Amino acid sequence: MCGIFGYIGNKEAKEILFEGLRRLEYRGYDSAGICVIGEDGSFTRLRVRGNLDVLENHIAGAQMPGKIGIAHTRWATHGAPSEQNAHPHTDCHENLFVVHNGIIENFSQLKEELLERGHEFSSETDTEVVAHLIEEKYEGDLSIAVREAIKEIEGSFAIAVVQRKEPSTLVAARRESPLVVGIGKDEWFVASAVPAFLSRTKEVIFLEDDEVVCIGGDSLKITNLEGFEVERQAQEITWDLDAAEKSGYEDFMLKEIYEQPRAFTDTLADKFNREGDISLEGFLLDKDYAKSLRRIVIVACGTSYHAGLIARYLFEQWAKVPVEVEIASEFRYRGAVLCERDLVIAISQSGETADTLASVRETKATGVPVIAVVNVVGSQMTREADGVIYTHAGPEIGVAATKTFTSQMAALAVLALHFGKLRDALSEGKYGVITEALRGIPDLMEEVLSSDEQVKECAHRFSDCDDFLFLGRGISFPVALEGALKLKEISYIHAEGYPAGEMKHGPIALLDKNVPVVAVAIRDSLYEKMISNIEEVKARGAPVVAVASAGDPDIEKICDRVLRVPESMELLSPPLAIIPLQLLAYHIAKIRGCNVDQPRNLAKTVTVE
Ligand code: F6R
Repeated sequence: MCGIFGYIGNKEAKEILFEGLRRLEYRGYDSAGICVIGEDGSFTRLRVRGNLDVLENHIAGAQMPGKIGIAHTRWATHGAPSEQNAHPHTDCHENLFVVHNGIIENFSQLKEELLERGHEFSSETDTEVVAHLIEEKYEGDLSIAVREAIKEIEGSFAIAVVQRKEPSTLVAARRESPLVVGIGKDEWFVASAVPAFLSRTKEVIFLEDDEVVCIGGDSLKITNLEGFEVERQAQEITWDLDAAEKSGYEDFMLKEIYEQPRAFTDTLADKFNREGDISLEGFLLDKDYAKSLRRIVIVACGTSYHAGLIARYLFEQWAKVPVEVEIASEFRYRGAVLCERDLVIAISQSGETADTLASVRETKATGVPVIAVVNVVGSQMTREADGVIYTHAGPEIGVAATKTFTSQMAALAVLALHFGKLRDALSEGKYGVITEALRGIPDLMEEVLSSDEQVKECAHRFSDCDDFLFLGRGISFPVALEGALKLKEISYIHAEGYPAGEMKHGPIALLDKNVPVVAVAIRDSLYEKMISNIEEVKARGAPVVAVASAGDPDIEKICDRVLRVPESMELLSPPLAIIPLQLLAYHIAKIRGCNVDQPRNLAKTVTVE
């Protein structure tokens, strides 16, 4: 996720562009850049590694004359944060400049072809292929060139483009990534989100997929991929600035919960090639290496640890490799014995968590390879691990991890599938069925999100309780752990996650009518056992909230509330089952008046022991 912004009008562009970027900073902040085109076709481009404070220092004294320009604040997906990889990117002759938000899925292939045709690249980004493609298509009309170029692009994008030979034209286009046009008095804006220009105009047009907008000569024209003009009425925005930054959501956490289908899709996107095969890099591709694996050890903290517990089932069942999952703060001091054919997988949203990082270093000292599953591109862990698998969740601003958790599941599922295939543990047929099911998860996530009202009602019923027990069995046990963690960290209610079968060995003593039990009771291979556990809870008078499969008619009879999730493959149920629990924690915390984005005593990145 990045923020893009473009301006064309009757004022000097530099300050307006920077002000717009500030409003988009929540979308990414590892590098940034601005390019302004002068009336005579001259250009000034400034790019920095670092956040907008760094860019502000650079542009403060800079002369950047011109009334048209584009700007970008980056959240790296391809290529580490650096000045070279910062946008705007350009073509071979510095004639045109592009800013981009999204992921160009076929960029490796496009880049190869462009290199063969003599183009010279100066960054490692996927975006740069867009600049070179437009350069090739340009025959005097920027709008047509952009349209022809996007026909060759696969993936998601919102782009804004300027060209020195047309110094009074701004062109933008989108597919799947957001792009909105702001219409002011003798000035226009294009941006990833409305806040970028909300202080200047409230009149907007939201572009649809595969539309190209061309602004210049006092007019604005929208065309579709076939080149036909599209009529679209401008609308008036009624939100205030704060709501707009959160795209209308009350909090970043809620916005991020709703972003999960998109984050899951993006995480899968760059891991499959055109033929639908998994494309990972380095030694992970080696069949002999995969076959020789003796054991996988997963290390992580908090929510990432829970993702590891879920991944254990996938690696064991699909790839038939034994797995241990360790809390990083314990692992690093345990003197754990690692052997030659072990692989360590470190999972971390931030890539900076001190204990996980220390575990990576401990492992490397033994010579055992480490793969990091990380969200923040260029973070310390990505530099120290032997290989990196990225989740493409975009920046997570809410302290409680939500979309990064489900994205970690997507990334780990791909790796487990990959090992399953290389180790000949999965037949072609089974591999295909799982791949298909995995790709279907984002649509099912949308379905779960559409039942938020039931979750809200349930939250009202139980928001004044002081203790909760979360139960699950098998792969739903880590889901219960994660549900309990979400509730305790943002609502300050005591909550414990427990394997349901273990309840009668102690925690059952806690139960009475004031202790609600949240049971993850998906119709899976342990369903009958879970139902027996729910009966045991009911017999002690505790109310039960079940997370249950959509097609399960009987569970209502024994539970006080039922939160439904669609049926899926058992091992892929966690990214669905966790959503009602995230929402439950969210609504309870809101009812209790808690600050869900910044809960007390917590930090987003824990860089100390
Ligand atoms: C909980 C949460 C934390 C993190 C933990 C690890 O919502 O966010 O438990 O999961 O601090 O952080 P990363 O994944 O950055 O290593």
